[in-house]
Amino acid sequence: MHYSHQPKFPEGFMWGASSAAWQVEGATEEGGRSISAIDLNSKTKKPFADNSIAADHYHHFKEDVALMAECGFTSYRFSLAWPRIIPASDGKVNEEGVAFYNALIDELVANGIEPIVTLYHYDMPLWVEEELGGWKSRKTIAAFEQYARVCFERFGDRVKYWLSINEQNMQIAYGDWLGVSKGCHDWFRDQWRINHIINLCHATAVNLCHELVPGGKIGPVPGMVPIYPETCRPMDQIAAMNAEEFTEKIWNDTYAYGEYSDFVKRYWKNNDIDPGIEPGDEQLMKSAKIDFFAINCYRSNTAKWAPADAKEHPYELNKTGNKGELVFPVVPGAYQLVYNPYVEYTDWDWEIDPISIRYVMRYMWDHYRLPLMITENGFGAHEHKDSEGKVHDQYRIDFLRENIYQLGLAIEDGCEIIGYNPWSFTDLLSTGNGIEKRYGFVYVDTTDDELNEAQDRGEIPACRRIKKDSFYWYSKLIKSNGAEW
Ligand code: BG6
Repeated sequence: MHYSHQPKFPEGFMWGASSAAWQVEGATEEGGRSISAIDLNSKTKKPFADNSIAADHYHHFKEDVALMAECGFTSYRFSLAWPRIIPASDGKVNEEGVAFYNALIDELVANGIEPIVTLYHYDMPLWVEEELGGWKSRKTIAAFEQYARVCFERFGDRVKYWLSINEQNMQIAYGDWLGVSKGCHDWFRDQWRINHIINLCHATAVNLCHELVPGGKIGPVPGMVPIYPETCRPMDQIAAMNAEEFTEKIWNDTYAYGEYSDFVKRYWKNNDIDPGIEPGDEQLMKSAKIDFFAINCYRSNTAKWAPADAKEHPYELNKTGNKGELVFPVVPGAYQLVYNPYVEYTDWDWEIDPISIRYVMRYMWDHYRLPLMITENGFGAHEHKDSEGKVHDQYRIDFLRENIYQLGLAIEDGCEIIGYNPWSFTDLLSTGNGIEKRYGFVYVDTTDDELNEAQDRGEIPACRRIKKDSFYWYSKLIKSNGAEW
């Protein structure tokens, strides 16, 4: 990559990294936490380890925060586990869970690190799913409201940046991967009722945050994958727009404007879909004014037109990390995704496309004029220690440097961007490939086999932390506010 110049980052820019409770904490049966639906989902990804131990952050959090401070972090984005805070349907607050997060937040604040907290990152308590019906039931809205209220009341004195729900768009667009479509008989239609209920939870949380957290700001966390048209054939452009609507734009419009777009309303009508909107819902959505967009952006996609008689095909993700296994979806009459010959791919067939982050920032700023922060971006790889016990991840440094460069260009383009929190600080559990798919600046010295065996013995491995080359590189970069890279 040729860098024409070095972009400048604003004073106070939040440099950090990101994680999610179920992927980093472990201790799923400790400290009063109850079982989550995602715990069961993670057990279906064998031979990869499930989330019982993950990076064992629950026991290593002080060491982890000390490493963040050493690296020079000014922010850290993480999530709270709903089943750790409200473990059962009696709604009682688990004080041990609150104490854990209080200790983590205090440690961050003491080290000058701004906590950026996600309320929901996929770990629905099993009691919500089994006793209330999960996202399929409107009863979940009141349960989520109670949970959000507890979080704002207990942590809002120190946490000012809140994120509502992680990647609602991806949870709906790719419903089976994280188990959201479980138990649905007509996912094609059910997804919109589920989506509506999640929207009401999001809106409730936004309003509650503004009511309960002095100076609190809150935003959604869409997973953004810009869609390029495969060619300049006009129908490929429409295909790219369709793909963008069905995977991202429908959600972003709803968050920003507090109402459903004409595009989605028309789609529901044409397909005989009833999203289950009840009196009062639209007023609630309209009243919820977000303060910013938090954005997860790793890659781009490319689309071409798929005629109405094309053969439908679902998205088949690469589930092993052996290149070439991913199969792109075909949505007849709307779009199909295809390989992009202009970019390289990771071992999981994700496009390596740093320019996509500049595109996403420009796109979001132009459409919504709300401050933006990156809450995920990163490079998943198979990784091992060398003979001296070191981890050399030059590919990650290259990837992050180019992404940060493009982010800087987006700032120069006029976008208001307030922080960069890539995925992830330590290695942690991936959504489907255990700890084999690593993203961290800090290596967690264990493997899926070791985690599985330790779990069978009822033990926890040491999970020693080893700073990768990217840790030292990132540290220099953030301590110089992006000047030394
Ligand atoms: C994001 C999710 O979409 O991607 C994270 O918010 C996830 O939870 C991350 O871990 C990376 O995906 P994966 O499948 O490589 O873990």
